[in-house]
Amino acid sequence: MKLFDVYPLNDIVIEKAMGSYVWDDKGEKYLDLYGGHAVISIGHTHPHYVKRIEDQLHKVGFYSNSIKIPLQVELAEKLGKISGKEDYQLFLCNSGAEANENALKLASFYNGRKKIIAFKKAFHGRTSLAVAATDNPNIVAPVNETDNVIFLPFNDEAALEVAFKQHEISSVIIEGIQGVGGIIVASDAFLKKIRSLCNEYNAVFIADSVQCGYGRSGKFYSHDFAGVNADIYTMAKGMGNGFPIGAISIAPKIQPKHFMLGTTFGGNHLACAAALAVLEVIEKEELINNAKTVGDYLMGELKKLPNIKEVRGKGLMIGIDLPDELNMVKKNLLCKHKIFTGEAKPNVIRLLPALNITKTEADIFLQAIKTELG
Ligand SMILES: Cc1ncc(COP(=O)(O)O)c(C=O)c1O
Repeated sequence: MKLFDVYPLNDIVIEKAMGSYVWDDKGEKYLDLYGGHAVISIGHTHPHYVKRIEDQLHKVGFYSNSIKIPLQVELAEKLGKISGKEDYQLFLCNSGAEANENALKLASFYNGRKKIIAFKKAFHGRTSLAVAATDNPNIVAPVNETDNVIFLPFNDEAALEVAFKQHEISSVIIEGIQGVGGIIVASDAFLKKIRSLCNEYNAVFIADSVQCGYGRSGKFYSHDFAGVNADIYTMAKGMGNGFPIGAISIAPKIQPKHFMLGTTFGGNHLACAAALAVLEVIEKEELINNAKTVGDYLMGELKKLPNIKEVRGKGLMIGIDLPDELNMVKKNLLCKHKIFTGEAKPNVIRLLPALNITKTEADIFLQAIKTELG
């Protein structure tokens, strides 16, 4: 059997990883400012993370959600505390798409409605509702097509008001910082408007924090910058530092009923151990502060460089928008300077490093991109 060929691949095999570095099978060392797509939050193979998973594996790796799993309760308590949403409720699943799928479904159970507001350039995942709420027709199969999703321009308060007047809205789903869309930050005013319209019409505000959440922006959820609460936060990526886990954090007004949501693998012992290790390291090493400090430093220095159209983002979620003629920069960063970065169309370099990246590592990148920008 061969692999189903769904991605263009870099011709690199990674065999070892530590902190913000990875090594290929030829011993070549790379600086990782991509984190396997915003997944590596506390650095590769962090010793506390490795030990917690290893210890757990020797006890019990998996048993189903038909029994009590105290690790889930411990995780809910810690996540509630660190995210500042102690009165919220946790549902655990396995990926970002699954988190969004469950959030959209739960919203519909809550208010009995069908219409979802999503935004231009949004990415919410590849399962049926998540992909229907994703603004990319190329990945929406005919079976996923629905007229239940209304796409509006991002950060457009007037369009939002009109849509609420015209339709019975179940939920609004929004990334605090659009990732795949090219690092576009939702304005505080826009998030506040979503909050007030959801209150007025009893719709559910879903904050997709799969990429921009978990401390990356310099706050636990990037939506927190607006000073309003969402009804459901969805998360995955950084939550397990590479161990597949996702979750939704649900406001107290949304009450559960048995069997309305469910999962076989979600919240298993090993996944909880991984997620707890991540939160313990985030807390102990003050990584949310570090994301802000090093992120602000990177943004400030990048803004001084020539030939960049725009630098966008918050904390360690940074987009460097380059003119078309500089479309080789990302490739050169990898091939010449041995630095992994992410990308977004048409020509945006995305920085999504581990939250414990140091200023020295940031300087290595700044030096490299300086030589590329001329
Ligand atoms: C904002 C956002 N939501 C959802 C997803 C889907 O997550 P997953 O690939 O874990 O299903 C992604 C993945 O890139 C994402 O960036």
